[in-house]
Order: sequence, then C-alpha cells, then structure tokens
Amino acid sequence: MSETTAKLTLGDETYEFPVLSGTVGPDVIDIRSLYAKSGLFTYDPGFTSTAACDSAITYIDGDKGELLYRGYPIEQLAAKSSYIEVCYLLLYGELPSKAELADFENRVTRHTMVHEQMHYFYRGFRRDAHPMAIVTGVVGAMAAFYHDSTDISDPMQREIASIRMVAKLPTIAAMAYKYSVGQPFVYPRNDLDYASNFLHMCFAVPAEEYKVDPVVAKAMDRIFTLHADHEQNASTSTVRLSGSSDANPFACIAAGVACLWGPAHGGANEAALNMLREIGTVDRIPEFIERAKDKNDPFRLMGFGHRVYKNYDPRAAVMQESAREVLELLGVENNPTLQVAQELEKIALEDPYFVERKLYPNVDFYSGIILDAIGFPTSMFTAIFALSRTVGWIAQWKEMIGDPQKKIGRPRQLYHGATTRDYVDIAQR
Ligand code: CMC
Repeated sequence: MSETTAKLTLGDETYEFPVLSGTVGPDVIDIRSLYAKSGLFTYDPGFTSTAACDSAITYIDGDKGELLYRGYPIEQLAAKSSYIEVCYLLLYGELPSKAELADFENRVTRHTMVHEQMHYFYRGFRRDAHPMAIVTGVVGAMAAFYHDSTDISDPMQREIASIRMVAKLPTIAAMAYKYSVGQPFVYPRNDLDYASNFLHMCFAVPAEEYKVDPVVAKAMDRIFTLHADHEQNASTSTVRLSGSSDANPFACIAAGVACLWGPAHGGANEAALNMLREIGTVDRIPEFIERAKDKNDPFRLMGFGHRVYKNYDPRAAVMQESAREVLELLGVENNPTLQVAQELEKIALEDPYFVERKLYPNVDFYSGIILDAIGFPTSMFTAIFALSRTVGWIAQWKEMIGDPQKKIGRPRQLYHGATTRDYVDIAQR
C-alpha cells in the first residue's frame, strides 16, 4: 500500500484509494476497488485519463516532446543504434553486448523465410487488395502455419513466436507489395541486414541484380526504429486487450495490425502524403488551412496533432532530417511534395488555431515523403509502419503475459439504452 491516498467523497461516504508512483510520469490513483466499495464505475472514453497497465518499456512526455525506449532517448537511438539492436532492447530490456546482438541477429535472420505454403495463401487475394488487408490476414493466419509456437503458457514458444514475427513481418509486407505489382516473390537474403533485406525483397527482380543503396537502407532502418514502439497507443492497447484473453500471439498481432490501419493512427502516413499531393502547390495551402479550421468541414491536416504530444513530436524532427538526406541523395530535393510539406509546416506552426491547440507535425508527416522518394506506393506506408511496430507490440504482449496481475480486459459502460421492455409480436407492431 502506498503512503499517499486520494479521497473521493460522495454524499456522506468517503472512499480512500492508494496513489501509485512510477519512476517518472504522472502518479496514478489505483481505483481497482472503486466498484466493490462504492458500486460506481469511472467514465473515460478514449482513455484520456486512464493508465491501463503497469509497463517498463516506453515512456513519453508529451509536453516536453520526449520519447524513451527503456530509458534511452529516441534521438540517440536513431543516430547511434540500429533497428535490430532496438528490437533487442525493447524485447529484453537492456542494450545487448556484442555477442548477444550477434546471436539475436542470427536468430532473427534464420527465421525470415515464410512457410512455402503461404505463397499459395497470397494467391487467393485480389491483385488490387490493400497491403494492410493482406498483412492483417496473413499475420492472423500464421497461427495456422506455426503450430509449435501458439502455446502462450510455454515461455519457449512465446520466444519463438516473437522471433518469428520480428523476422517474418518484412517478408510478409514485401510479398504483399510484390503481389500487388504482379512481380515474383523475392526470397529473403541472409547476407543482408534487416532494412537492406526488406528493400531487396521489395525492389529486386530475378532478371537483374539489385544493389541496395546504404543511405536508403539507413533511412529505412531509421523509419523502423522511430516506429518501433509508442507506449499504450490504440494498436498496442488492442494487442494487450486481445492477449488478455490468452489468444495466441499471431492473432494478437493481427489485431494490432488491423487497428493500426485506421487513418487516425498508422494510416495517417498514407493520408498525409495523399493530402500533400492533393494540395499540390504552395499557393493552395491557405485554402486547406482554412478547411482544417472550419468546424463544419470534416477535413483535418493529416500528419498534424497527437493525443499525447503537445509539443513537436521528437520522431518528426529526426524524420525531417532523414527526408532531406534521402531526397538529396536521390536528387529530388526540389520535389513539389516536400516543398508543400515544408511550407505547410511553417504556416501551421504560426497559425493561432494550431498554436493554441498545440498541433504540431507528427511522425507521419515526413515518413511518407521518404517512403515515396524510395519508391513505395502510398498503400505500402502503413504496412511498413506495421512491420516496424511489430516488435513493440510483441514486447508489450510478452510483458503483459508475464505480469502476475494480468486479468482479462473487460471495460464497463455508461448505459443509455432502453430499460427492460416486453417483446411485441410482429403482427402487433
Ligand atoms: N487538423 C485540424 N484540427 C485538428 C487536428 C488536425 N490534424 N487535430 C486535432 N485538431 C483539433 C480538433 O478539431 C480539436 O479542436 P477543438 O478543440 O476546437 O474541437 C482539437 O484540435 C483537439 O483535437 P482532438 O480530436 O480532441 O484530439 P485527439 O487527441 O483526440 O486526436 C489525433 C489526436 C491524432 C487523432 C488528431 O490530432 C488527428 O486526427 N490528427 C490527424 C491524423 C494523424 O495525423 N494521426 C497520426 C497520429 S501520429 C501516428 C500514430 O501514433 O499513430
């Protein structure tokens, strides 16, 4: 029991609840006994004031614009680390030694191929299927292919399932892309690093050699790193809620992929680039700013605003720098989309509507520009986000499964429907 308590007074009754402190961040009132003591629920749609779990993986200070993976600032990891090292850090809690990293990388690399039968599974989809529809289906179907890693009570099976998903998601996403463009699937190559292998599986064709540019591979690796985890966001909470019923890990991650697809979440990178293209030229920006401010118009500036960040998204700052590097390398610095993006950002950051609401560009504002320059169609953007986030979802799922306080997630409701009434026969209605 903590020393500090919070008191809730309702009429003549006063209820007392412990206040718990984490290592950093707001304290929480432990209201688990509220219903038993008072018969009341709390009401918090959208979880704006609710800590749904106790976690030690990722920390965000939205006011400062700070993002930490296991305590390490995202800017340092983006500059000095690699995605595969970040995966180790998220999954196991500490940075690996050289030997640990080599072993982990080897384990991931040795699991990149997918079951050959999966190739036939792809062929059942329409060629114009959205890659996220395919990825959602294929990840869920992994439980049908890897029966030896679905028993969640076995730590060894949990570990193998985790490695399989980190290793195979790039293959699954790349196959979705290849299928959509009518090209043969490209098998993974174990001599390439994680990001280069993904680029190779997407852009190589059997007819000729494809060399991965190291600058592009570095930018890809950074995109993976910046998206690797993000605390208890909608898709992560979906993974946790799915996992709370002891569903198999592939089903849980498929649920996360499905949630991520929405334009208010991971789908924003696709929506942001489509919006920049729709704006087209700098002179049309004011028209779109006015639409974003008009409460009678559902239009929002995609890639702006965040539930938690009320300051510049630290991932957007790194991404902006990466966008410049990649566009310069590829000789597309005068890309009109980038010009619209830069001008839009400038105008929005000065406009009182956006300033007052603390609406800053988020990670998705610049990631789309980089992915477009690399050659990915917009429909692949969210699939790339999904493959990057898979490790975060798994780390959070593993943490939950190992938590002795784990309970099936079961929110309650404020009911406003009809009260009990008698069924009326159809002839009398
Ligand atoms: N353009 C115009 N107005 C906006 C925007 C925007 N992008 N975002 C928020 N607002 C306004 C909103 O209309 C409201 O104004 P008012 O107080 O006058 O009613 C105020 O700002 C607060 O908005 P909210 O919807 O209550 O904020 P939220 O925390 O529920 O929503 C959000 C967060 C990310 C869903 C929202 O900002 C949004 O829809 N942004 C565009 C989509 C986007 O870029 N999403 C990617 C998020 S980052 C990637 C990820 O982690 O998945």
